Amino acid sequence: MKFLKYLKIGYSVLFVMLFSSGLAREVQVFDFDWRFALGDHEQVNTAGYSDNRWRLLDLPHDWSIEGEYDESHPGGIAMGFLPAGIGWYRKTFDYDSEWDGKLVSIEFDGVYMNSDVWINGKHLGKRPYGYISFGYDLTPYLKPGQNVIAVRVDNKKVPSGRWYTGSGIYRSTRLTITDPVRVEKWGHYITSERSEKTGIRTVTVETSIRNESEKTRKLTVETNVFSPSGTLVASSSEQVKLQSGERKVLDPRVELKKPDLWSPDSPALYVAETRIIEKGKQRDAYETRFGIRDFEFHADMGFSLNGIPTKLKGVCMHHDAGPLGAAVPFDVLRQRLQLLKDMGCNAIRTSHNPFAPEFYDMCDEMGFLVMDEAFDGWGKPKAAHDYGHYFDEWWERDLEDFIKRDRNHPSVIIWSIGNEVHGYTKEWQKRLVDFVKDLDPTRPVTQGRGYAGPHIDIAGFNGHGEFRGTFEKYRKDFPERTIIGTEITHTLQTRGVYRTKTWYRVRDNPAPWEIGKKFSSIEDRVYKIPDLSEEEVFVDEPRQYDSSYDNSIVRIGVRDEWMRVLDNDYYTGNFRWTAFDYIGESFGWPARTANFGIIDLAGIPKDHYYLYQSLWSDEPMAHILPHWTHPGKEGIEIPVVGYTNGDTAELFLNGESLGVQAVDQRKDTVWMVPYESGSLRLVSRKDGKTVAVTSVRTAKSAKSVTLALDKEIVRANRKDVVRVDIEICDAKGNCVPLADNRVEVAISGPGRLIGVENGDILDLDPHKVSSRKAFRGKLVAFVQAGDVEGAIDLVVSGEGLKSQRASITVVSEEPAAFEVTRNYN
Ligand code: GAL
Repeated sequence: MKFLKYLKIGYSVLFVMLFSSGLAREVQVFDFDWRFALGDHEQVNTAGYSDNRWRLLDLPHDWSIEGEYDESHPGGIAMGFLPAGIGWYRKTFDYDSEWDGKLVSIEFDGVYMNSDVWINGKHLGKRPYGYISFGYDLTPYLKPGQNVIAVRVDNKKVPSGRWYTGSGIYRSTRLTITDPVRVEKWGHYITSERSEKTGIRTVTVETSIRNESEKTRKLTVETNVFSPSGTLVASSSEQVKLQSGERKVLDPRVELKKPDLWSPDSPALYVAETRIIEKGKQRDAYETRFGIRDFEFHADMGFSLNGIPTKLKGVCMHHDAGPLGAAVPFDVLRQRLQLLKDMGCNAIRTSHNPFAPEFYDMCDEMGFLVMDEAFDGWGKPKAAHDYGHYFDEWWERDLEDFIKRDRNHPSVIIWSIGNEVHGYTKEWQKRLVDFVKDLDPTRPVTQGRGYAGPHIDIAGFNGHGEFRGTFEKYRKDFPERTIIGTEITHTLQTRGVYRTKTWYRVRDNPAPWEIGKKFSSIEDRVYKIPDLSEEEVFVDEPRQYDSSYDNSIVRIGVRDEWMRVLDNDYYTGNFRWTAFDYIGESFGWPARTANFGIIDLAGIPKDHYYLYQSLWSDEPMAHILPHWTHPGKEGIEIPVVGYTNGDTAELFLNGESLGVQAVDQRKDTVWMVPYESGSLRLVSRKDGKTVAVTSVRTAKSAKSVTLALDKEIVRANRKDVVRVDIEICDAKGNCVPLADNRVEVAISGPGRLIGVENGDILDLDPHKVSSRKAFRGKLVAFVQAGDVEGAIDLVVSGEGLKSQRASITVVSEEPAAFEVTRNYN
C-alpha cells in the first residue's frame, strides 16, 4: 500500500513508518539484545548497575523450556515437570533526538507472569496476568544518552496454570513513538451494517483521538478505507478541535457498495486508516485491518456465515509449540496454522487465554474462525497459584484490554469468558457478559461448559457434551439456546502407536479426578467403539502410549462425534481437544504430556490428522494406517484402515486387490490383512476416477536420514525459522517406522538451532541440545536465521547412518508486509 514505507535501519532493528510528510508514527521492534539473569537480583534498578555478565538474548524468550525435566520440579504434572522461578531482563537503549517532543511507549505482547517493569529505576507498573498484552508510557522518564528498561518476571509459585505456561518475556515487544496528538492505543473499533433496502454497507470507524500537548489543536481527521487490493475505496474527513488533555471519540462512517466479504475460503481484508492533519502537516497515521462478514448463531439452524450454513470444524490450542515452549516464532506459528488449514479445519479456540497478537492476524489472513477466550477460571483458583488469586482485582482491566485489542479481527466470531469456571455464580456470569457486550455488542459470548448459566448467548459444552443424550435433554429444557462443542472431542493418540482393542480413558485408565468413579453408571452414555480384533495384535507398547486407530477415547470417538455434528442442524460444530500436543497436564511422571493432540509436540501429524482431513476437507486425499513393518507378525491379521474422501477405496497388498469398499460419511474402511512384508497401496476413487493414491512399504534396517526443509531461503532478521523434518530410512529410502536412532544436528553459518523434538511423551531429553533420538522414525529441527547474509550449512548424522546435508540461504530483504502492517498498539 502506498502509504506504507518500510525502512530497515542498522542490521537488526526494524522500523515502520506511516507517513505522508514528516514522521507520524514509528513502531520499532524491541526484541533484540536483552540481558537476562535467572533468579532474583537486588540493586538491579540502582544507577550504574552492570548487567555485563547477564546472558545476551533475543525475545521472545521462555526460560522454562530451556530447563531439564525433573520429577521434583514444583510445577509437577501441570508444568510437564519443567522448571519455573524468577527471572530478570534488562535492555539498554539510546535516546534518539528524533523523539524530542514525541510520546514514547513500550508494548509487551505477553510476559508470563507477574511482571514488574522499570525505566531508569522508575517503577512503571505490574501485570499479574501472563497472557495479557500491555504497555507503558516511557515519555516522562526518558533521558538523553542511555536508558534502561528492567523487567522482573515472577513465576515462582507454581503451578500457576493447569498446563505448561512457560516463563519469561515470551512474546514480542515494541517501542511506539507518536506525536502528542494521536490516535489512542487500540484506538479503532470498526463495525459495519448492511442496509436491507439498498444492500449498501456502512462502515463505522470509531476512532479515539487524544491531545497530550499543552495547546489546543485544530485538526483535520481523515478516514480512508482501502480495498483488499489496496485501492482507496472510501474516505471521509472532519474538523476537530482538541483542547490540551482532551480525548474525543469520533465515528466517521463510509459507504461501500458491494464489498468483498471475509470468510475462511476467501479471507478478504480491508484497511481503515486515520490521518490526523494539522495545517497540512500529518500528526498521526494509524491503520487497522478489518473484514466484512455477517454471521448468525441460530438455536435450530446452527451457524451460518454470510448466509451460508457452515459447520465449525474447530480445534482447541494451547499457546506453546513443543521444543520452543511458549516463545513461538512467527514462522512456527504460521507453519502450525497451515497444517490445520490443510487438514480442513476452519475454527480455533484459544484455550484458555488470550494468544499473541500475530495469531489473530494470521487467522484473519489464512481464514480461521476464532473463539477468543479470556480466562480459564475466575476468582476461584483452579491451579494452586493461578490467576484466580488476582482475578477480583484485575479482571476488568484485563478483559477490557483483551477485547479492545482483538475486536477488529474478522476471524474472531465468539468471545469466551471462561472455561469450566469453578463455582461460578449467575451474578458473575452476568457481570462478565455485560462487560464484554459494552465493549463489543457485535459478537456472542460463550463459556466452556457454561451451558447452565442463564446469561450466556451460546451454550458451550465441554466433555459432558460427549455423553449420549446430553444435547437432546438440553434442547428440551432450553429450546431457544444455540449449542456449541467448546471442547469436544477428547481422544488420545501417540504417533506411530497402535492397539486393536478399544480403550476408554474413563474406564481403562481414569484421569486422577475420575479415579473411584463407577464406570458402570455412565456405561450406556459413552459411545462404544467395537474392538478391531478379538486378541490385541500390538501387545508391547508402553502403558502411557495411546492408540492411533480411532479407538482410544474418553467418551466419544472422532467419527461418532462428527456424525452428530452432521446429523443435527442445531449443532454448530465442535472444537476438539486438541490440535497439537501441549506440554503439561500429563497423567504422571515420566510423561510430559497426555497426547491429546492430532499433531505431536514436534508438529508431526498423527494418523488422526488424516482422519480429520477425510472428514473435513474436499481436497482428494488417501492415508493408510498402521505402517507396514511388523516383523514377527507374519500371518497375523492386522486391521488396515484407509482414510479417504473419495466415494470408494481399494486396498492392494503386494499388487493384489483386497477389495473395494464404499466410503460413507464415516470414512470407515477397514481390511483385515494377514501380515506379509511388502507394500500396501490405497486407491481412492470418485465417480470411478482415481483421485488419490498412497502407499506404505515394509522397511529394512535403518541406514540413512532424509531431510525435508519447509523453505530454503530466510531473511537475515533473527526471526525467520526453517523447519527441518528428519526421517530415518532404510537403504532404499523407506521410512523405518520404529527407528529410534540418536541423530546429531550440526549448524554452521549465520543461523542457530532453536529446538529439536521427536514428539515422544516419554523422552525427557532437554530441548536446547543438538542431539536427540528419533521417535517412530521421525524428528524435527528448527533453525533460526541470524542477522547477516550467507549460507547456513546443516548436517544431520547418526551412528551407522549415512548423513545428509542441506543449505539454507540467508538473504537481506525488506520485511514482508505481514509483519509491518500489524497494528497492535
Ligand atoms: C477439560 C479442560 C481442558 C483439559 C481437558 C483434559 O475438562 O477444559 O483444559 O484440561 O479437560 O482432558
